[in-house]
Amino acid sequence: MMIREYRPADRGAVREISYKTSLESRAHDFLDARDAVEDALTVYFTDHVPGSCFVAEENGKVVGYLLGTDDVKMMEKVMALDILPRIFRDAVVQGIIFRKKNLLFLWNYFLGFCRGEFIRVRFDHQFPAIFHLNILDGFRGKGIGTALVERNLSFLRGKGVQGAHIGTMSEQAKDLFIKLGFKVLYSSRRGYLKYVLGHDTPYYILGKKLKDDH
Ligand SMILES: CC(C)(COP(=O)(O)OP(=O)(O)OC[C@H]1O[C@@H](n2cnc3c(N)ncnc32)[C@H](O)[C@@H]1OP(=O)(O)O)[C@@H](O)C(=O)NCCC(=O)NCCS
Repeated sequence: MMIREYRPADRGAVREISYKTSLESRAHDFLDARDAVEDALTVYFTDHVPGSCFVAEENGKVVGYLLGTDDVKMMEKVMALDILPRIFRDAVVQGIIFRKKNLLFLWNYFLGFCRGEFIRVRFDHQFPAIFHLNILDGFRGKGIGTALVERNLSFLRGKGVQGAHIGTMSEQAKDLFIKLGFKVLYSSRRGYLKYVLGHDTPYYILGKKLKDDH
């Protein structure tokens, strides 16, 4: 297994992994909009900040990735002003948004929004880097996630970044990050996926300082 920098040729594999691992690995049960899901999860990283992304390769196949940036504010700006409006426009123009499964997801997302489930708690001052980590089923529990996180943390330290944070809906991922020295900064529960999963999901934001404050 090899951890290496992301290359443009990895784009398709990274998009596929993002889809297979998103929404509790059940994206297909929630949405009928594969391109939109892949765009929302990966395009900022692969097309705007590819130099801060890493992949894990096993026997020539990309089996996991860490997509990151050291400037979460810039990421949010590009997502809000460019990527998300484009995804929305394409979904409307192509009629994708009007598919029953997608309308149901948007309705449940809207209800979650009204319940305050997506209120953005900000940690970018102390922890300006953010990342997403996903490993294909069948390659988990073999140290790949740990190796990707460690590679990313040493990359960020080399750039003098003050801290990194990550959001996760997985108890197991939370435990992994705690083992890697992250601290829970925020925790809550979300109910917007309950209409398919049958239960609420936890949501954690964890952070790790990479530099002393002074
Ligand atoms: C969470 C995840 C990135 C961890 O990567 P990994 O390569 O499996 O992790 P490692 O092998 O380095 O470390 C194993 C630890 O990860 C945790 N873990 C989380 N999910 C796991 C899974 N499905 N299988 C095995 N370990 C998992 C456990 O705490 C485990 O610790 P243990 O070995 O002491 O039991 C990966 O399992 C994954 O992609 N899961 C599905 C998507 C997800 O939850 N992504 C996290 C978004 S932040």
